[in-house]
Amino acid sequence: MRPIDEVLKERKTNINPIWIMRQAGRYLPEFREIRKKNPNFINLCLNENLSFEITLQPVTRFQLDAAIIFSDILMVPYGLGQKVEFQKNFGPILEGLNFDQISKTNETDFTKKLNPVYKAIKRVSINKNLNNKSTIGFVGAPWTLLVYMINQQSPKRKLKENFFKDDFLINKTLLIIEKFLKIHIKNQIDNGANIIQIFDSWAGLLKEEDLHRYIYEPTLNLVNYVKSLNIPVICFPREIKNYKKFCNIVKPNAVNIDYNIDPKKIVQDIQIPVQGGLDPKLLLTDKETLKKETKKYLDIFKDHPYIFNLGHGVLPETDPNMVDYLVKMVKNY
Ligand code: CP3
Repeated sequence: MRPIDEVLKERKTNINPIWIMRQAGRYLPEFREIRKKNPNFINLCLNENLSFEITLQPVTRFQLDAAIIFSDILMVPYGLGQKVEFQKNFGPILEGLNFDQISKTNETDFTKKLNPVYKAIKRVSINKNLNNKSTIGFVGAPWTLLVYMINQQSPKRKLKENFFKDDFLINKTLLIIEKFLKIHIKNQIDNGANIIQIFDSWAGLLKEEDLHRYIYEPTLNLVNYVKSLNIPVICFPREIKNYKKFCNIVKPNAVNIDYNIDPKKIVQDIQIPVQGGLDPKLLLTDKETLKKETKKYLDIFKDHPYIFNLGHGVLPETDPNMVDYLVKMVKNY
């Protein structure tokens, strides 16, 4: 059995599988080399050969237990016909949401548009060198996608002032997002993804009273859908204040924690397998500091089913040698 599955399905505690969020990305010179020649990020994600190659880059370099497919959560708004661009040193920019347009998208057109992503997953999942490694497919959570689709850019610390103004539009858009996220999940699983991770990067922006409508309900629908396909699902409701309540309501197979939450509290509060937590900024320090902080997570979770990962994506300025050091340390602990 693949080590990550041993943690997710058998709740093993004596192994420490590891993968790293954004493991395929700008901290790797071999990625930057490809990126330089491919200024359009969406087209890069739609290049079956290159996305396959980029997915394998970190797995070739380091002893990771999973390959996460090189793509982006914003491929779904793109598939719905909303233009998405990535501007250097700024991040994603989306065109204004045109509800009539996204509501006209049908399943066949959507799947056709994103087909190179699925083909790349297929190639990754059948690759002989990935024997015993998981192939992780992923989606953005409905709330985080709604944020990008209405806000048109990263909300950083703040949403547009009139973000919640059009309740009717929000409801209808959420339903479309949910429908196509299920299609996107199913297509990834049909092509060999054997774990799904749901990224809710902006869960922390909401007030407690809004969590039911925007997070718990729509995420629970997706989690139940993934489970109905017999595939484990990991949720990352980043900076949600109450991980315990989230897990009790949504019941994913594992939860990824951010680096602001105390792991000691998590291990007391949460029964399901846990993933992640280490602050990615620690990879910018020195080996001694990194080792000390990594040990902290491994020790706290030593009797708990735990998948090693970070508390957010690896930073572009990270030295790959530090990642190598981290992976070896976790593997040999
Ligand atoms: O983890 C992996 O290695 C798989 C690939 C992956 C990417 N994005 C590639 C990417 C995954 C899983 C994502 C998820 C994603 N994308 C999230 C959720 C996780 C998180 O970071 O909170 C979000 C919010 C996005 C949207 C997004 N994509 C933003 C905000 C940005 C710009 C910021 C940045 O880091 O540059 C992207 C671009 C992006 N997605 C890059 C990569 C490798 C960098 C693109 C480049 O080369 O310029």
